[in-house]
Amino acid sequence: MKYKRILLKLSGEALSGDQGYGINGEVLDQISDEVMTLNEMGVEVAIVIGGGNIHRGVAGATKGMDRTTSDHMGMLATIINSLALQDALERKGVYTRVLSAIKMQEICEPYIRRRAVRHLEKKRVIIFAAGTGNPYFTTDTAAALRANEIDADLIMKATKVDGIYDKDPVLHKDAVKFDELKYIEVLNRGIKVMDSAAISLCMDNDIEIRVFNMFEKGNIQKVVIGEQIGTKVVK
Ligand code: GTP
Repeated sequence: MKYKRILLKLSGEALSGDQGYGINGEVLDQISDEVMTLNEMGVEVAIVIGGGNIHRGVAGATKGMDRTTSDHMGMLATIINSLALQDALERKGVYTRVLSAIKMQEICEPYIRRRAVRHLEKKRVIIFAAGTGNPYFTTDTAAALRANEIDADLIMKATKVDGIYDKDPVLHKDAVKFDELKYIEVLNRGIKVMDSAAISLCMDNDIEIRVFNMFEKGNIQKVVIGEQIGTKVVK
Protein backbone atom coordinates (compact mmCIF):
# COMPACT_ATOMS: atom_id res chain seq x y z
CA MET A 1 0.00 0.00 0.00
CA LYS A 2 1.27 3.41 -0.94
CA TYR A 3 -0.78 5.27 1.68
CA LYS A 4 -1.26 3.93 5.20
CA ARG A 5 -3.21 6.74 6.83
CA ILE A 6 -5.67 8.71 4.76
CA LEU A 7 -8.20 11.42 5.33
CA LEU A 8 -11.32 11.04 3.21
CA LYS A 9 -13.20 14.26 2.55
CA LEU A 10 -16.85 13.75 1.65
CA SER A 11 -19.19 16.56 0.72
CA GLY A 12 -22.54 16.67 2.45
CA GLU A 13 -24.22 16.85 -0.97
CA ALA A 14 -22.72 13.46 -1.84
CA LEU A 15 -24.92 11.90 0.85
CA SER A 16 -28.13 13.24 -0.68
CA GLY A 17 -27.68 11.36 -3.99
CA ASP A 18 -30.28 12.31 -6.62
CA GLN A 19 -32.78 13.62 -4.10
CA GLY A 20 -30.60 16.74 -3.62
CA TYR A 21 -31.46 17.12 0.05
CA GLY A 22 -31.05 15.08 3.23
CA ILE A 23 -29.53 11.63 3.49
CA ASN A 24 -30.04 8.91 0.90
CA GLY A 25 -29.81 5.45 2.46
CA GLU A 26 -28.47 3.78 -0.68
CA VAL A 27 -25.67 6.31 -1.08
CA LEU A 28 -24.79 5.98 2.58
CA ASP A 29 -24.63 2.22 2.12
CA GLN A 30 -22.38 2.58 -0.93
CA ILE A 31 -20.01 5.00 0.84
CA SER A 32 -19.77 2.83 3.94
CA ASP A 33 -19.00 -0.21 1.76
CA GLU A 34 -16.02 1.63 0.26
CA VAL A 35 -14.82 2.78 3.70
CA MET A 36 -15.22 -0.78 5.02
CA THR A 37 -13.01 -2.06 2.19
CA LEU A 38 -10.27 0.40 3.13
CA ASN A 39 -10.59 -0.60 6.78
CA GLU A 40 -10.28 -4.28 5.83
CA MET A 41 -7.17 -3.49 3.76
CA GLY A 42 -5.61 -2.17 6.98
CA VAL A 43 -5.64 1.48 5.90
CA GLU A 44 -6.16 3.93 8.75
CA VAL A 45 -9.16 6.01 7.76
CA ALA A 46 -10.26 9.39 9.06
CA ILE A 47 -13.25 11.11 7.51
CA VAL A 48 -14.37 14.71 7.35
CA ILE A 49 -17.87 15.20 6.09
CA GLY A 50 -19.61 18.40 5.01
CA GLY A 51 -23.15 19.44 5.81
CA GLY A 52 -24.39 21.01 2.57
CA ASN A 53 -27.16 18.42 2.13
CA ILE A 54 -28.82 19.93 5.22
CA HIS A 55 -27.53 23.48 5.56
CA ARG A 56 -24.86 25.55 3.84
CA GLY A 57 -23.40 28.37 5.91
CA VAL A 58 -22.56 30.60 2.96
CA ALA A 59 -25.93 30.07 1.28
CA GLY A 60 -27.76 31.11 4.47
CA ALA A 61 -25.62 34.23 4.71
CA THR A 62 -26.39 35.25 1.12
CA LYS A 63 -30.09 35.16 2.04
CA GLY A 64 -29.49 37.68 4.80
CA MET A 65 -28.82 35.34 7.73
CA ASP A 66 -26.01 36.23 10.12
CA ARG A 67 -22.95 34.40 8.74
CA THR A 68 -21.76 33.07 12.09
CA THR A 69 -25.21 31.72 12.96
CA SER A 70 -25.51 30.18 9.52
CA ASP A 71 -22.08 28.55 9.85
CA HIS A 72 -23.02 27.20 13.29
CA MET A 73 -26.06 25.57 11.68
CA GLY A 74 -23.78 24.11 9.01
CA MET A 75 -21.51 22.64 11.69
CA LEU A 76 -24.50 21.02 13.38
CA ALA A 77 -25.47 19.59 9.98
CA THR A 78 -22.05 17.87 9.77
CA ILE A 79 -22.78 16.20 13.11
CA ILE A 80 -26.04 14.77 11.75
CA ASN A 81 -24.15 13.42 8.72
CA SER A 82 -21.35 12.02 10.90
CA LEU A 83 -23.81 10.12 13.07
CA ALA A 84 -25.57 8.74 9.98
CA LEU A 85 -22.23 7.54 8.59
CA GLN A 86 -21.21 6.07 11.95
CA ASP A 87 -24.47 4.18 12.13
CA ALA A 88 -24.10 2.85 8.56
CA LEU A 89 -20.51 1.72 9.22
CA GLU A 90 -21.30 0.07 12.53
CA ARG A 91 -24.19 -1.84 10.96
CA LYS A 92 -21.51 -3.36 8.72
CA GLY A 93 -19.36 -4.20 11.73
CA VAL A 94 -16.78 -1.41 11.30
CA TYR A 95 -15.72 0.17 14.59
CA THR A 96 -15.96 3.94 14.47
CA ARG A 97 -15.60 6.97 16.69
CA VAL A 98 -17.15 10.37 16.02
CA LEU A 99 -15.00 13.22 17.34
CA SER A 100 -16.58 16.64 17.37
CA ALA A 101 -14.84 20.01 17.25
CA ILE A 102 -17.78 21.40 19.27
CA LYS A 103 -18.30 19.65 22.58
CA MET A 104 -21.55 17.70 22.83
CA GLN A 105 -20.49 14.83 24.99
CA GLU A 106 -23.90 13.22 25.29
CA ILE A 107 -23.71 12.51 21.57
CA CYS A 108 -20.06 11.99 20.66
CA GLU A 109 -16.50 12.39 21.89
CA PRO A 110 -14.79 15.76 21.88
CA TYR A 111 -11.92 16.10 19.40
CA ILE A 112 -8.62 15.34 21.12
CA ARG A 113 -5.74 14.84 18.70
CA ARG A 114 -3.88 12.16 20.65
CA ARG A 115 -7.08 10.23 21.14
CA ALA A 116 -7.86 10.45 17.43
CA VAL A 117 -4.44 9.02 16.60
CA ARG A 118 -4.92 6.21 19.15
CA HIS A 119 -8.26 5.29 17.59
CA LEU A 120 -6.56 5.08 14.19
CA GLU A 121 -3.82 2.88 15.57
CA LYS A 122 -6.55 0.57 16.86
CA LYS A 123 -8.00 0.50 13.32
CA ARG A 124 -11.14 2.37 14.21
CA VAL A 125 -12.54 4.63 11.51
CA ILE A 126 -12.73 8.15 12.90
CA ILE A 127 -15.21 10.74 11.74
CA PHE A 128 -14.37 14.35 12.47
CA ALA A 129 -17.58 16.29 13.04
CA ALA A 130 -18.38 20.02 13.31
CA GLY A 131 -15.68 21.21 10.90
CA THR A 132 -12.96 23.17 12.66
CA GLY A 133 -15.50 24.35 15.25
CA ASN A 134 -15.22 27.90 13.88
CA PRO A 135 -17.41 29.93 11.55
CA TYR A 136 -15.89 31.20 8.27
CA PHE A 137 -13.96 27.96 7.80
CA THR A 138 -15.15 25.30 5.39
CA THR A 139 -15.10 21.58 5.95
CA ASP A 140 -12.39 21.43 3.24
CA THR A 141 -10.21 23.51 5.56
CA ALA A 142 -11.19 21.22 8.44
CA ALA A 143 -10.02 18.29 6.30
CA ALA A 144 -6.67 19.96 5.59
CA LEU A 145 -6.22 20.90 9.25
CA ARG A 146 -7.07 17.46 10.63
CA ALA A 147 -4.98 15.70 7.97
CA ASN A 148 -1.99 17.74 9.15
CA GLU A 149 -2.72 17.12 12.80
CA ILE A 150 -2.99 13.35 12.47
CA ASP A 151 -0.10 13.24 9.99
CA ALA A 152 -2.15 11.69 7.18
CA ASP A 153 -0.32 10.58 4.02
CA LEU A 154 -3.07 11.72 1.71
CA ILE A 155 -6.32 13.67 1.51
CA MET A 156 -8.79 11.83 -0.69
CA LYS A 157 -11.27 14.36 -1.98
CA ALA A 158 -14.30 12.44 -3.23
CA THR A 159 -16.22 14.09 -6.07
CA LYS A 160 -18.78 13.08 -8.67
CA VAL A 161 -16.34 13.55 -11.58
CA ASP A 162 -13.13 11.60 -12.02
CA GLY A 163 -10.64 14.39 -11.37
CA ILE A 164 -9.83 18.03 -12.12
CA TYR A 165 -10.52 19.30 -15.65
CA ASP A 166 -9.46 22.52 -17.40
CA LYS A 167 -13.15 23.42 -17.65
CA ASP A 168 -16.41 21.98 -16.36
CA PRO A 169 -16.66 18.49 -17.96
CA VAL A 170 -20.43 18.47 -17.49
CA LEU A 171 -20.85 21.59 -19.66
CA HIS A 172 -17.90 21.15 -22.05
CA LYS A 173 -17.34 17.93 -24.00
CA ASP A 174 -13.77 18.95 -24.93
CA ALA A 175 -12.70 19.44 -21.29
CA VAL A 176 -9.28 17.89 -20.59
CA LYS A 177 -8.48 16.06 -17.37
CA PHE A 178 -5.26 16.75 -15.48
CA ASP A 179 -3.38 13.73 -14.08
CA GLU A 180 -1.32 15.97 -11.83
CA LEU A 181 -1.39 19.63 -10.79
CA LYS A 182 0.72 21.70 -8.45
CA TYR A 183 -0.98 23.39 -5.49
CA ILE A 184 0.03 26.75 -6.89
CA GLU A 185 -1.59 25.94 -10.25
CA VAL A 186 -4.86 25.09 -8.51
CA LEU A 187 -4.70 28.45 -6.73
CA ASN A 188 -3.64 30.45 -9.79
CA ARG A 189 -6.24 28.91 -12.07
CA GLY A 190 -8.92 29.50 -9.45
CA ILE A 191 -9.96 25.82 -9.58
CA LYS A 192 -12.74 25.44 -7.06
CA VAL A 193 -12.09 21.81 -6.12
CA MET A 194 -11.23 22.82 -2.54
CA ASP A 195 -11.17 26.36 -1.17
CA SER A 196 -7.93 28.31 -1.21
CA ALA A 197 -7.38 28.13 2.57
CA ALA A 198 -7.45 24.32 2.39
CA ILE A 199 -5.13 24.19 -0.64
CA SER A 200 -2.70 26.64 1.01
CA LEU A 201 -2.60 24.60 4.20
CA CYS A 202 -1.77 21.46 2.19
CA MET A 203 0.81 23.36 0.13
CA ASP A 204 2.60 24.73 3.19
CA ASN A 205 2.75 21.31 4.82
CA ASP A 206 3.16 19.19 1.71
CA ILE A 207 0.10 16.94 2.06
CA GLU A 208 -0.89 15.30 -1.19
CA ILE A 209 -4.50 15.67 -2.34
CA ARG A 210 -6.19 13.24 -4.69
CA VAL A 211 -9.41 14.30 -6.39
CA PHE A 212 -11.29 11.25 -7.60
CA ASN A 213 -14.70 9.75 -8.26
CA MET A 214 -15.62 7.71 -5.23
CA PHE A 215 -18.78 6.36 -6.82
CA GLU A 216 -16.92 4.24 -9.35
CA LYS A 217 -16.45 0.91 -7.65
CA GLY A 218 -12.88 -0.01 -6.82
CA ASN A 219 -11.47 3.51 -7.30
CA ILE A 220 -10.81 4.07 -3.64
CA GLN A 221 -8.67 0.92 -3.35
CA LYS A 222 -6.81 1.77 -6.55
CA VAL A 223 -5.83 5.16 -5.15
CA VAL A 224 -4.52 3.61 -1.95
CA ILE A 225 -2.32 1.06 -3.75
CA GLY A 226 -0.84 3.85 -5.84
CA GLU A 227 -2.64 3.58 -9.19
CA GLN A 228 -3.13 6.70 -11.29
CA ILE A 229 -6.79 7.45 -10.55
CA GLY A 230 -8.22 10.97 -10.64
CA THR A 231 -5.98 14.03 -10.29
CA LYS A 232 -3.02 14.38 -7.93
CA VAL A 233 -2.37 17.78 -6.37
CA VAL A 234 1.23 17.95 -5.19
CA LYS A 235 4.17 20.28 -4.57
P1 GTP B 1 -9.70 2.94 24.10
O1 GTP B 1 -9.54 3.48 25.47
O2 GTP B 1 -8.51 3.24 23.22
O3 GTP B 1 -10.08 1.50 24.02
O4 GTP B 1 -10.87 3.80 23.38
P2 GTP B 1 -12.42 3.73 23.57
O5 GTP B 1 -12.96 4.82 22.70
O6 GTP B 1 -12.99 2.38 23.33
O7 GTP B 1 -12.58 4.02 25.09
P3 GTP B 1 -13.56 4.88 25.91
O8 GTP B 1 -13.74 4.14 27.17
O9 GTP B 1 -13.02 6.27 25.93
O10 GTP B 1 -14.90 4.90 25.07
C1 GTP B 1 -15.87 3.91 25.12
C2 GTP B 1 -17.07 4.34 24.31
O11 GTP B 1 -17.57 5.57 24.83
C3 GTP B 1 -16.78 4.59 22.85
O12 GTP B 1 -17.90 4.16 22.09
C4 GTP B 1 -16.64 6.08 22.74
O13 GTP B 1 -16.99 6.58 21.47
C5 GTP B 1 -17.60 6.54 23.82
N1 GTP B 1 -17.17 7.82 24.38
C6 GTP B 1 -15.96 8.14 24.91
N2 GTP B 1 -15.93 9.41 25.29
C7 GTP B 1 -17.13 9.94 25.02
C8 GTP B 1 -17.72 11.22 25.17
O14 GTP B 1 -17.13 12.17 25.65
N3 GTP B 1 -19.03 11.35 24.75
C9 GTP B 1 -19.72 10.33 24.18
N4 GTP B 1 -20.98 10.54 23.79
N5 GTP B 1 -19.20 9.12 24.04
C10 GTP B 1 -17.93 8.92 24.43
